[in-house]
Amino acid sequence: GAPIRVALLGCGTVGGEIVRLLTDQADDLAARVGAPVELVGVAVRRPHKHPELPAGLVTADAAGLVTRDDVDIVVEVVGGIEPVRTLLLEALKAGKSVVTANKALLAEDGAVLAEAADASGADLYYEAAVAGAIPLLRPLRESLVGDRITRVAGIVNGTTNFILSSMASSGAGYTDALEEATRLGYAEADPSADVDGYDAASKAAILASLAFHTRVTAADVHCEGIRTVSAADIAAAASLDCTIKLLAICERVPSEDGAADAVSARVYPAMIPSAHPLASVDGAFNAVFVEAEAAGQLMFYGQGAGGAPTASAVLGDLVAVGRNLVVGGRGPRESTYASLPVLPMGAV
Ligand code: HSE
Repeated sequence: GAPIRVALLGCGTVGGEIVRLLTDQADDLAARVGAPVELVGVAVRRPHKHPELPAGLVTADAAGLVTRDDVDIVVEVVGGIEPVRTLLLEALKAGKSVVTANKALLAEDGAVLAEAADASGADLYYEAAVAGAIPLLRPLRESLVGDRITRVAGIVNGTTNFILSSMASSGAGYTDALEEATRLGYAEADPSADVDGYDAASKAAILASLAFHTRVTAADVHCEGIRTVSAADIAAAASLDCTIKLLAICERVPSEDGAADAVSARVYPAMIPSAHPLASVDGAFNAVFVEAEAAGQLMFYGQGAGGAPTASAVLGDLVAVGRNLVVGGRGPRESTYASLPVLPMGAV
């Protein structure tokens, strides 16, 4: 078929891996999509800092790139709210499908993006926004959509899990562990989003929205980070045969008075008994349990941060959207939500 033409916004840790995989796996991707997948532009803030990219592809003009006639899909791995929100809305309005890893934006304005996608018939995919390489959003959006989910809970931030694991296993100091997580490409550009829990809160908002078919934003999520967790706290937990983990917990809370159920979402450091499966999730790995009425308990585990694992999820979305374009179809719609009430700041 005609080539599927891709514009990439951002070329840092994740973007670099996406370019590498698009090149190295071009033949396989073409076979899976049913058409060649062609990178037609890469927008970066400072083009001269990217000598590794083919000169003809690089531009500083992201706004020009996203609405170009020869672009079918916009892939965004810049992060942050603006200017990305404006760029992605322009792209969707112009009928381009969007693949994004931007949890902060989705947790703040996912509804607006979903409506823009529905209005123009474009796709909006974001598997990479939560838990890196782990297939988790598509199972919630598609495989489990016929079930009633009651709980989604686990470890969804690699940086803080890396820090807590390093402090517990090797007695590393908090600052050294954070520096190492940054060096390995796990931490956000501003790592306070990780250590203060906001990154996990954004992911909790996205998970709760999909699991409970209601709009939950980051502001609805009660959020405590790990800055105040000390070596003494970790030692005290160990003496009780426990481990401290930063958990994100999203629950359907049954009403007591016959009114509608409500949704609660919260992020905080918690003591986990060492025998619990979450206690042995180390380094930048993530693990999420999903409980549904008919399915029972499911466990998702894998690399939750880092360039290649995150790029894997982006490439999966790219193939899904490419296939939809080839057959003239669309992925799941989301703008039509039933609205379960959301409890204020995760109260239970
Ligand atoms: N900074 C994030 C984390 C990256 O550490 O989990 C993956 O979303």
